Amino acid sequence: MKTRITELLGIEYPVIQGGMAWVAEHHLAAAVSEAGGLGLIGGANAPGEVVRQEIRKARELTKKPIGVNIMLMSPYADEVAKVVVEEGVQVVTTGAGNPGKYMKMWKDAGIVVIPVVASVALAKLMERGGADAVVAEGTESGGHIGEATTMTLVPQVADAVSIPVIAAGGIGDGRGIAAAFMLGAEAVQMGTRFVVSKESIVHENYKKRVIGAKDIDSAVTGRSHGHPVRCLRNQMTRQYVKLEEEGKSFEELEYLTLGGLRKAVMDGDVTDGVVMAGQIAGMVKKEQTCKEMIEEMMEQAEKLLAR
Ligand SMILES: Cc1cc2nc3c(=O)[nH]c(=O)nc-3n(C[C@H](O)[C@H](O)[C@H](O)COP(=O)(O)O)c2cc1C
Repeated sequence: MKTRITELLGIEYPVIQGGMAWVAEHHLAAAVSEAGGLGLIGGANAPGEVVRQEIRKARELTKKPIGVNIMLMSPYADEVAKVVVEEGVQVVTTGAGNPGKYMKMWKDAGIVVIPVVASVALAKLMERGGADAVVAEGTESGGHIGEATTMTLVPQVADAVSIPVIAAGGIGDGRGIAAAFMLGAEAVQMGTRFVVSKESIVHENYKKRVIGAKDIDSAVTGRSHGHPVRCLRNQMTRQYVKLEEEGKSFEELEYLTLGGLRKAVMDGDVTDGVVMAGQIAGMVKKEQTCKEMIEEMMEQAEKLLAR
């Protein structure tokens, strides 16, 4: 299936694996790229040298294009922004802000820049700033979220900008991909389903929790402080939401989540850790290789779109 995104990124399938803190390391990114999609290394809050090593390790596993997701609020964002240029990374996606100050450096280096947006206004701003495409991410997603749903956001962003739009949030199979295309997207970005791929290094307990999740098993913490995060319900989310209702400050609540994602991903603590996953977790029922996932989904999507 050819779209402006597959052409722009030089990939076979219009499927991008979202940059995910702790989860999107070199094994996962390389597996997705090797399978014909685009794998991203999640820069998250990691220092530049850590991201550099991840890029190099991914390159040992695949010769196909890979990307890096840069979290602009990271204290290391400036370092990572330079590392992607030095390492010749082909694609950068950005989250949590406006990448304007890096744009010239990245464009001069020939990097494809794709900001993640949760509103039409931000999508338009990014287009004016020279972005090559945008990821329109709905509130169904795992991790940090906006308010609009994928169903409402994607067509409105597609109408508002002329650069290609990638849909994210709540997409977990070929039906989701076909629906996203119907809404005007030219590719999809997925996170939750790739968390449970065979190549994903997340702890078995995390994978089991996602596979065992029901449709309404996610909760949103941090709304009261303007930093909403979607994860699966557990002891941590219950306590967080209770303290939020009691009006506790952001600083008081932070200790509950600090290091919480690492605790869940690396140590398998799915009781007190932060088990980020989206609403589509309820439909994710098996562990497969990235190749199996992508080929199965694309076959289903292509059949539906040909109807
Ligand atoms: C465990 C986890 C961690 C994530 N971390 C990040 C991140 O560091 N930066 C980012 O831009 N998006 C992050 N996301 C969002 C994904 O990149 C992707 O856009 C999202 O998962 C898509 O929605 P889905 O979960 O419904 O597939 C994360 C998602 C998950 C599930």
